[in-house]
Amino acid sequence: MTDKPSEHLPVLLDETVTALAVKADGIYVDGTFGRGGHARAVLAKLSDKGRMLGLDKDPDAINSANALAQQDSRFFIEQCSFADLASAVSGHLWQGQVDGILLDIGVSSPQLDVAERGFSFQKDGPLDMRMNPDVGISAAQWLAKADMDEIATVIKTLGEERYGKRIARAIVEARDETPITTTHQLAKLVDKASPSREKNKHPATRTFQAIRIHINNELGDLKLGLEQALDMLAVGGRLVVISFHSLEDRIVKRYFRDEALGDDLPSDFPITADQLNPRVKIIGKAIKAGEQELGKNPRARSAVLRVVEKLA
Ligand SMILES: C[S@@+](CC[C@H](N)C(=O)[O-])C[C@H]1O[C@@H](n2cnc3c(N)ncnc32)[C@H](O)[C@@H]1O
Repeated sequence: MTDKPSEHLPVLLDETVTALAVKADGIYVDGTFGRGGHARAVLAKLSDKGRMLGLDKDPDAINSANALAQQDSRFFIEQCSFADLASAVSGHLWQGQVDGILLDIGVSSPQLDVAERGFSFQKDGPLDMRMNPDVGISAAQWLAKADMDEIATVIKTLGEERYGKRIARAIVEARDETPITTTHQLAKLVDKASPSREKNKHPATRTFQAIRIHINNELGDLKLGLEQALDMLAVGGRLVVISFHSLEDRIVKRYFRDEALGDDLPSDFPITADQLNPRVKIIGKAIKAGEQELGKNPRARSAVLRVVEKLA
């Protein structure tokens, strides 16, 4: 039976719109359209002259965005990674003119809810995990060919899973018997290979996260997306990033800090801080969801929102 995808509740919605400091006639890019919760809130603040471009890798997100584009001529959509943000923005000749860019990274609730997409260990389905199932290889294909050390490194580093080696060994032993092609097969195998349990966390949580991040090159895309986003912004434009785990947030935090510091010169070099050509100003502190939002949307628990404004 095919699952019906649930709605996607946008995380930190009011905080995001505030952080983007939306100008009525401005140009905005939502690099992770999803189901358009954030995009619609931004569009609601735009005048007839305002424009918005949405991007997403996922074909279901694109279908939902196409429906919006048909109703709203201010909105455009392109199926691509935000790692190709510069090319998508250049297609509209908006380089250096964008007033705000949002990246709300990770997976959406509909992706997790549909068993056929293979993102969730809670639903049995083909072990796919690609945000765009027409590009690259599935998790099952990767697990069938990767060597044990590569699997262990991915699970350890991208899942921060201390039993990465044991789990990788169990995967390689199991695939010699039968190919690992379903989410439940992998979840059971990881469960059996894990010698201890974390409270309120399925033992396969970290392994699934790691394989998903690897298959979709999520951290590589994030680094490329951040760099291109700053290039595309107008002076005074805002970049808002919502991340869902420490690996992503660390990349965002360091990138923002480095760009806010400017040129990397020795600390005793005789110039003032503003002569270091900082590219951005950090706006406020990292924002997390409050109790009220967490009551309605547990997915918001790990969300961290960071904002910078382009200076030059
Ligand atoms: C957390 S959801 C975004 C939800 C959206 N803000 C909303 O309100 O509906 C993340 C979305 O980003 C997409 N995505 C993840 N990585 C991407 C990438 N590198 N490029 C483009 N889209 C990406 C996923 O397919 C998913 O639809």
